[in-house]
Amino acid sequence: MHPFPLEPDRATMAEMGHLVLDRVVERTDQLAARPATSLLSPQAEAELGETLLAPPPARGGDLKALLARLDEAADCALESAGPGHLAYIPGSGLYSAALAEFYNRAVNRYGGLASVAPALAALEESVIRWMAREVCGLPEGSGGLLTSGGSMATFSATVAARHDRLGEDLAGGTVYTTAFAHHSVAKAARLAGIRAAHIRTVPHTPDLRMAPEAAAAMIRADRDAGLRPFLLVATAGTTDTGTVDPLPQLAGLARREDVRFHIDAAYGGFFRLTARGAERLAGIEQADSVTLDPHKTLFMPFGTGALVVRDLAALHAAHDGTGSYLQDMAGAGVPDSGRLGPELTHEIRGLRAWLPLHLHGVNAFREALDEKLDLAEHVHDTLSGIAELEVLQRPELSTMIFRVRPVGGSRAAAERADAASRRLLERINGHRRIVLSSTVVDGRYTLRVCVVSHRTHHDRITEALQIITGEARNIPVA
Ligand SMILES: Cc1ncc(COP(=O)(O)O)c(C=O)c1O
Repeated sequence: MHPFPLEPDRATMAEMGHLVLDRVVERTDQLAARPATSLLSPQAEAELGETLLAPPPARGGDLKALLARLDEAADCALESAGPGHLAYIPGSGLYSAALAEFYNRAVNRYGGLASVAPALAALEESVIRWMAREVCGLPEGSGGLLTSGGSMATFSATVAARHDRLGEDLAGGTVYTTAFAHHSVAKAARLAGIRAAHIRTVPHTPDLRMAPEAAAAMIRADRDAGLRPFLLVATAGTTDTGTVDPLPQLAGLARREDVRFHIDAAYGGFFRLTARGAERLAGIEQADSVTLDPHKTLFMPFGTGALVVRDLAALHAAHDGTGSYLQDMAGAGVPDSGRLGPELTHEIRGLRAWLPLHLHGVNAFREALDEKLDLAEHVHDTLSGIAELEVLQRPELSTMIFRVRPVGGSRAAAERADAASRRLLERINGHRRIVLSSTVVDGRYTLRVCVVSHRTHHDRITEALQIITGEARNIPVA
């Protein structure tokens, strides 16, 4: 018999579990010492890919050897779980959430319909209600569903708004957002059947926020032209700069113009747990629907998003479906996620949030997010004192942006500075202690520092600042 059959006995299960747990503990413990990126050269990557693309064998292998192969494959990556990951927003992956997920996958309860595992569905619902009511300040009766990520949450919010406001005639439907909205907003609208030309880019103010008067003018002009404005999408923490759109004014505008108001708070939403975040995200409680992403600022493993809504009716009306094979399923005391979104069969997603929230307590998350706000301000203050750099704005959340200062005011000077910023990014990332990323702000190449990982603390930011300032002072611009 093979040493690892499909149904291992108790001792084998424990042996297998220990082998995996040892690898995971070792890797997690080493995260701070590991390079911030171990992406290989394209050629080495291709060679590794070649061996990893082999089909599975007819006869099983050895778990230790397979784990070693997994380790090799996992090594070839941006170390997105580590403290040096300052490049992109998606988060760091709590150890306790991984344990919850292991338990979850082993008991393998059905998450699409609440009546199949009603008590676990209730645990998930407790997490959703906490997000809707405590995190976002939505009223009693609000709720939602956990999704695979922010994109799916925004998609379901868009489908619900479309169904509610346009019915089946989609032709004239128009959506409003800004150039700084995440691309998942436009994608959701297109997938929901809205013409690309009807996804309006509302102008922004010099501080990169949606301009409410411009949005109002666009909505009215479209309505006068016979179109059907139905959805305004604000961002609470843009991907590029962490900027929060003026939520109270936009909520008022949406009410006056009778369009649904969705807020993409995939990045920013959980900062509302902190005092500074609550102030900066004021108005979020006026939304019809909000995208949250626990796999960003709640440090959950990838594949954990959320959509919370003021009133479940529109979400339910847009996504409900049934079949005669479901006639034996009684309703449960909590909503069926399979009737609120496009997916049916999936795991009970809430467990990987429920266990960490109950184990560590909400304050642990509040303090970690507060620390991220402090660290981003510290990066801002330090880099503001470096003559060679142009620091664009004080971070509103935990993302800050900077670039090489041009020598002179001409277009050519700006282009030379952009080229220098590109080289600067390469040099900074070449240290492999931190990874930053870049974007384009008002036509200029701009570097981003996103402090989002629960494993990033003052020591790594001090090191990051030494690397950035050292390289910036040596970068030739002219
Ligand atoms: C503001 C914002 N919205 C939406 C998304 C998309 O979320 P996801 O990648 O979870 O689908 C992102 C991803 O970074 C984001 O930053």
